[in-house]
Amino acid sequence: MPATPISSDRKTKGILLAGGLGTRLAPLTTALSKQLLPIYDKPLIYYPLSTLMLAGIRDINVISSPEHLPMFRTLLGTGEQWGLDFEYTVQDKPAGVAQAITLSRDWLDGARSALALGDNILYSTGLTGLLKDTLKFESGAVCFAYPVGNASAFGVVEFAEDGRILSLEEKPKKPRSNWAVTGLYFYDNTAPDRVARLKPSARGELEITDLNRSYLEDGALSSVRLPRGATWLDTGTLDGLVNAGEWVRAIERQQGFKIAAPEEIAWRNGWIDDDALRALAKSYKSEYGKYLKALLRSPQG
Ligand code: DAU
Repeated sequence: MPATPISSDRKTKGILLAGGLGTRLAPLTTALSKQLLPIYDKPLIYYPLSTLMLAGIRDINVISSPEHLPMFRTLLGTGEQWGLDFEYTVQDKPAGVAQAITLSRDWLDGARSALALGDNILYSTGLTGLLKDTLKFESGAVCFAYPVGNASAFGVVEFAEDGRILSLEEKPKKPRSNWAVTGLYFYDNTAPDRVARLKPSARGELEITDLNRSYLEDGALSSVRLPRGATWLDTGTLDGLVNAGEWVRAIERQQGFKIAAPEEIAWRNGWIDDDALRALAKSYKSEYGKYLKALLRSPQG
């Protein structure tokens, strides 16, 4: 019997976008989905999945290409083992990040959404509190900004001195600030109608930045600046991928706990009980299984 669930947010549904061609990482991605590549000891998708779980989100739509979606089903299952409920949706062609909202429209059924890009890693002390506080927003949309040295590779947000958002641009040649928009977005239930009004960009995609700008134009977009101690890793390039793996390895070795283990988060959230965690631990004949088992003896981690 699962423990009584605590700290759940069933008003907000999560969307995990894990499609795309991964062309920048070929041949690594010739036969494999990018979001299934290893980041040290776990598949990449576990990291953004964990972010949604830390926010208390349990209903999650996993979107990927027709070739790769079956692999995600194999990895993630129904979600019940982690106290989650997964939906799976095919994206026939990578027609833009904002299409994830359209593809989720019926499933969302009027709920708010938290969209996480399947290749983004977010880690910070106090992240759980930050996400939960942010999810208290009544209406509009929220994005998360992080200072970077190469802003022209991302969506860029410009702030006024009082913190208001002045502009949003997708991969500008001359960025107006060093604040990149990370791959985590919270939307109210107007998002599907807003995406329906978007036109594809010059590169033929429904841009997430255009959806965010639609909120901005209505005075309904806010942006949380991630604290200095936070780490945001975009694994879109080969170096980004390798750096992320090295970073996870260094932190895990030094601190002795794992970043982004869904079993651990589910258990700490009270979504699965000790017996369920023990059974999950047993199912892995690896160091990962040993770690999960040890949690039961030393819950502080
Ligand atoms: O990582 C944050 C950045 O993500 C933001 O700063 C940008 O504003 C946003 O447009 C996005 O930029 P990217 O260049 O990283 O987007 P990319 O096309 O690489 O897509 C991001 C992820 O979403 C990637 O893992 C592939 C997946 N994807 C992408 C598209 C366009 C899909 O699953 N389907 C798609 O149609």
